[in-house]
Amino acid sequence: MPTIAVLPGDGVGREVVDEAMKVLTRVGEIEGIKFETVWFPFGADHYLKTGELMPEKVLDEYRQMDAILLGAIGDPRVETGVLERAIVGGIRWGLDLYVNLRPIKLYAEYLTPIKNKKPEDIDMVFVRENTEGLYLGMGGHFKKGTPDEVAIQEMVMTRKGVERVIRYAFELSRKRAKTNKLLLIDKVNAMPAQNIWTRTFEEVGQEYADIERDHAFIDAACMWMVKNPEWFDVAVTGNMMGDIITDLGAAVQGGLGLAASGNINPDGVSMFEPIHGSAPKHAGKGIICPIATISAAQMMCANLGFDSAAARIDRALAASLTSGEIRSLATSSGMGTSQYTEIVLSHIE
Ligand code: IPM
Ligand code: MN
Repeated sequence: MPTIAVLPGDGVGREVVDEAMKVLTRVGEIEGIKFETVWFPFGADHYLKTGELMPEKVLDEYRQMDAILLGAIGDPRVETGVLERAIVGGIRWGLDLYVNLRPIKLYAEYLTPIKNKKPEDIDMVFVRENTEGLYLGMGGHFKKGTPDEVAIQEMVMTRKGVERVIRYAFELSRKRAKTNKLLLIDKVNAMPAQNIWTRTFEEVGQEYADIERDHAFIDAACMWMVKNPEWFDVAVTGNMMGDIITDLGAAVQGGLGLAASGNINPDGVSMFEPIHGSAPKHAGKGIICPIATISAAQMMCANLGFDSAAARIDRALAASLTSGEIRSLATSSGMGTSQYTEIVLSHIE
């Protein structure tokens, strides 16, 4: 039976994780899967109480688990980035979760802010590099706080890191078999060192003669995402650009209330989370939409090989979002957190 490390984290994290667990439990009953959970307290409260962020040795505990479910990390009482880097970054780097997988799928027309786009027009997957790029914290300050200050943040791209994520994306394109096209997104016209991506894409692509290679600059890709989302199928890109364009993707699919992601190590333990943050101003009010985390739990089931459970959750999400019972996923919707879950549960056959 699968054991899941659950990290509710900060802000609304606890609320959304509780709801996702309800769905997992229900689906588990039907499918004969017992999801054992081990809860971890890391986040702002734990840090402020104990001074501990996330100890290195806990990574060994995660390695014993089948997957990790994370709520959200970040709290205004702690300096920006400290918790995020130690916990989210700590897990991504510590477990080498080199793929950040972000499906962008429109369940129902009313959810997208883009005019005249239908579910068949918005169905893509972003493969975001998740362990390198601008996120490594390589850099620093000189003459900090003076008028002569210099600040540097290095973009790190290794052949190994670029190759493995590109390979994953080719495999995914083949598996999806939708357009058999893989789009590389970068800004190599302004950052020539990024041609490590261009060259690696070309080379690895030789092994995937059945997959057509395409390329876009990030700025143009953002424009097309809004103008012609139907052009996208599978896209691969670096860490920072992937972070930004997938929030845009979340908006296109209906908002952060339903966008989920998987932080994947194909040979190890992976972590699943909603892409929204801890939304401290909404915490504890019971108004946050838990669908993104339920969707993350759905991705987790798929990753664990529980295909039937994953399909069941996906059908329930689709039915909930098309039935008319949910008018909005915004915190202003007038719906309570567990009300969303009740609707999803009612559609689980
Ligand atoms: C995400 C988040 C993180 C990221 C933050 C919390 C560091 O925005 O998962 O997209 O930028 O990767
Ligand atoms: Mn993000």
